[in-house]
Amino acid sequence: MADALISVLLERLASTTYEYIEGELKHVLNVKEDVEKFTATLQVIQAVLEDAEQRQVTEASVKIWLDKLKDISYQMVDVLDEWNTDILKQQVEKQEKEGDPNALVTKKKVRFTSFSRCFCFGKVSRVILRRDIALKIKDLNDKLTEIYEERKKYQFLRKELGIQQPQQPQRPQTASYVNMSEIFGREKEHNILIRKLLGDSSEEEKGFLLIPIVGMGGMGKTTLTQLAYNDDRVKSRFDMRKWVCVSDPFDEIKIAKAISGDYSPSSNELDEVLQCMSRSIQGKRFLLVLDDVWTDDPKKWEQLKVPLIQSGAEGSRILVTTRKLGVANMMRATRNVINLGELSDEYCLSIFNHMAFSDRDVHEFGDISKEIVKKCKGLPLVAKTLGSLMQNKTKMGEWKEVLNSKIWDLEKVEQEVFQPLFLSYNDLAPTIKCCLLYCATFLKDYEFKRDDLIKLWMAQDYVISKGNKEKGITGDAVFDNLVARSFFQDFEKDLDTSIITGCKMHDIVHDFVQFLTKNECLIIDHGEETTNESKVLGDKVRHLTLRYVPEGPLPHFISSYNCKNLRTLATFDSGITTIDPNLILQLKCLRTLNLSGNSIKELPEEIGELIHLRHIDLSFSYDLEKLPDALCGLYNLSTLRLLFCFKLEKLPENMGNLINLKHLYVDNCSNLESLPKGIGRLTSLQTLDVFRCGGGDIDEAFRIGDLRKLNLEGSLEIQLVADATDKSEVEKAQLWDKKLFHLSVEFERQTNSSSSVEILNALRPHPDLESLAISFHNGTTWPDWIPYLHNLRFLSVACGTQSELWPLGKLEYLERLTIEEMEGVRMVRVEFLGLEDQTSFRIRSPQILFPKLKRLTFFSLSNWEDWEGVEEWTKEDSEITIMPCLSELTIEECELLKALPDFLFETPLQTLDISSSWRLSERYQEGNGEWAKISATIPNIRIS
Ligand SMILES: *[C@@H]1O[C@H](CO)[C@@H](O)[C@H](O)[C@H]1NC(C)=O
Ligand SMILES: *[C@@H]1O[C@H](CO)[C@@H](O)[C@H](O)[C@H]1NC(C)=O
Ligand SMILES: *[C@@H]1O[C@H](CO)[C@@H](O)[C@H](O)[C@H]1NC(C)=O
Ligand SMILES: *[C@@H]1O[C@H](CO)[C@@H](O)[C@H](O)[C@H]1NC(C)=O
Ligand SMILES: *[C@@H]1O[C@H](CO)[C@@H](O)[C@H](O)[C@H]1NC(C)=O
Repeated sequence: MADALISVLLERLASTTYEYIEGELKHVLNVKEDVEKFTATLQVIQAVLEDAEQRQVTEASVKIWLDKLKDISYQMVDVLDEWNTDILKQQVEKQEKEGDPNALVTKKKVRFTSFSRCFCFGKVSRVILRRDIALKIKDLNDKLTEIYEERKKYQFLRKELGIQQPQQPQRPQTASYVNMSEIFGREKEHNILIRKLLGDSSEEEKGFLLIPIVGMGGMGKTTLTQLAYNDDRVKSRFDMRKWVCVSDPFDEIKIAKAISGDYSPSSNELDEVLQCMSRSIQGKRFLLVLDDVWTDDPKKWEQLKVPLIQSGAEGSRILVTTRKLGVANMMRATRNVINLGELSDEYCLSIFNHMAFSDRDVHEFGDISKEIVKKCKGLPLVAKTLGSLMQNKTKMGEWKEVLNSKIWDLEKVEQEVFQPLFLSYNDLAPTIKCCLLYCATFLKDYEFKRDDLIKLWMAQDYVISKGNKEKGITGDAVFDNLVARSFFQDFEKDLDTSIITGCKMHDIVHDFVQFLTKNECLIIDHGEETTNESKVLGDKVRHLTLRYVPEGPLPHFISSYNCKNLRTLATFDSGITTIDPNLILQLKCLRTLNLSGNSIKELPEEIGELIHLRHIDLSFSYDLEKLPDALCGLYNLSTLRLLFCFKLEKLPENMGNLINLKHLYVDNCSNLESLPKGIGRLTSLQTLDVFRCGGGDIDEAFRIGDLRKLNLEGSLEIQLVADATDKSEVEKAQLWDKKLFHLSVEFERQTNSSSSVEILNALRPHPDLESLAISFHNGTTWPDWIPYLHNLRFLSVACGTQSELWPLGKLEYLERLTIEEMEGVRMVRVEFLGLEDQTSFRIRSPQILFPKLKRLTFFSLSNWEDWEGVEEWTKEDSEITIMPCLSELTIEECELLKALPDFLFETPLQTLDISSSWRLSERYQEGNGEWAKISATIPNIRIS
């Protein structure tokens, strides 16, 4: 879709800087003027895009015009990127020349042939390159001018601010009338809704209630609301019922008039209209339906809400239907939300049958019906549409045809099903549109991971990273936006933080984005390229996903069909073994290359020519032996994923040149002894998932002290390998300066030249650290900084040799604590809670121990026998509170532990899980005396 692309390009043009080109070419070519002219022309064209996009559907020549425009826009993006890349290159060269004391590179330059070559010819080639860029811009400018002239032919409507175009897809007006016989399913939601409307069991329900009904377009929100609105019990409960179809924009005057029913044109002052509205509902118990609300602007809403609450009688209700959860948040009514999810196939079939066979035998074409209904994916609207489509089809052939077609090829579906989605889509900002459309490169049912998806958006330059908020919209904001508008579903949440970390896309939404990106994003199964799909392969394809490519080379059809403009190339379930260098050279526009899970041994050197590359994923390449040095010339590269590349022994030495590298993943590369020293220069690096320190040649390997310059965020795992590490080296890392969220420290099971506690002490993290894991800490004491981690929320300790647990009860924000495989622990004393001894609770002033702890886990403490309680302590007569938030306790493989301390039964514990701990099991099993004690207070108990 051109409008999104062009908005993003315009933003980019606006932030262009010219010093670089002007330096040497000012007098030759007017780059700056060209860019400015280009921008101005594009802005004029932008104003007619909406009309053009509408018309391209029916007018082939408009489509061709739009395609040309898109092509030029893409080319301009590439030229700007080349320009930018050269600036980056200069920076790298400057760094090299100045010689970074940390960079070994300068000392051993001879070895880096590819680089020295660059130095000799640098000057000449740079002038040529800049001239080349300037010429390209001039050329694009001319081409755009042609397109600009050509547009006159079409007499497009210009989009004026504030004026609604007649062509805009009309939101269908809804009314409160409903044909009861057309409702199927939704009994549960219906009952909840009726209960909320009629109910007055709680204080809350007696008062005024706002009930949002949220769900994606076509889910049946309005139908459900109509049903409730016309329910006889509801009718008799309220003095007054009003149905207002709100839609977009949210017009307070219009809505207030609809409520009062007074449309007299004389009163157009908001205040006056609101007063009139107030009078009309004064003292009445009213039911107001606001159907299809889009605004999440609280100001507009408050203006309307205040008089409604003030004037109406107790028990009044407002029902709001919306596609955006954000609306419910804005109205502060999330407690009462009714979510409409997918309808079961069974109900979809009833709807379908009802529509398709109004006066025919339902069993005619019964099996095909069931198959067709699967296409509905739980969306009642699709069931209805497809059903009505079948109404007067009487031949088996016609039914089969519908069954075998892609749903968007059915004109009726396109009109009726995609239309509501179009409304949601058009409501998005251009950047967010681009991000949504990118999802078409993934297979149906793909489980999106929030962070990965954001990185892919960044690779296409749609969004920017967190730290740069002023420069544009962040990936997190886009993701949350798409979640709030029901484009995503089936969420996966982080257990501890409740942040949504993953999701899926509803099939129909996926169909919809594929429909919108028809020839730009393609997913091709092996073999399909020689069949029907080949029609669409070509230079219009920007994102290509290949599936089921068998063992062998990366298929050549990419080049024979001239897919030279690919920006994404990804594979799924494939076994590619080799990549032809000449093929790589044809993919000069590539931003993202995902070859994970193939059987590639080596990447060709030529990959270094793909200067736009930002994201490379080679994870799970079990055969990958090495990476070419040329990789280090990819100055735009920001993510390199090499997870589970077991055979990889080293990374290219010049990694320090990847000055844009932000995320490096090397977890489970078990043969990777060390990382190259140059990584210490990568000040952009935010993620280094695992870092094994101590291995490799000491001079060339990245050592822990080299972490100093990195601005890591997020999470870092440090694996300390034995003797190579000492305390002074560790201190150089200055970990306390790094604002990490999570730190994990793992010692190898060997002796260290400094004791492990000395090393741990030197690893003191930033006091804001929220999550910490320590394993194989071989020492009798704990690191001295633990009490200073005031914000620590998640702590996990594994495989230590300590016999006492640290007084963790004093950590104010600790929510989850996991203790695993600590063989030295025989007894957990009251000190663990933060008390000094058995009696100290009597003397102390009020205090809360483990004030936020929710989940506590002990796993495999094989010598643990006693868990000391606080004798004489009772909840009532003490100033001390213990674990007031505890909800889950798990004890596994603690075979010698005899009993649980009494204070646990005073906590709000919800779930107790005991397994492979026979003494406890015996003591607390059902039928035993102690069972009564635990089951009296804990609702969920699992003992096994
Ligand atoms: C309700 O819908 C059914 C089936 O579409 C139709 O036969 C019936 O006449 C409708 N009822 C009314 C009152 O329109
Ligand atoms: C089906 O019926 C509609 C009107 O009810 C009509 O417009 C359409 O042409 C019919 N289609 C076929 C294939 O008969
Ligand atoms: C090509 O398309 C036609 C109709 O569009 C279909 O009947 C045929 O099966 C397709 N061929 C292949 C190989 O997919
Ligand atoms: C790369 O492709 C694999 C499948 O081959 C997929 O599982 C993975 O999520 C993709 N990675 C990214 C970052 O998209
Ligand atoms: C701990 O370190 C000592 C020597 O400092 C060593 O003898 C012992 O085996 C280590 N224990 C473990 C569990 O690694």
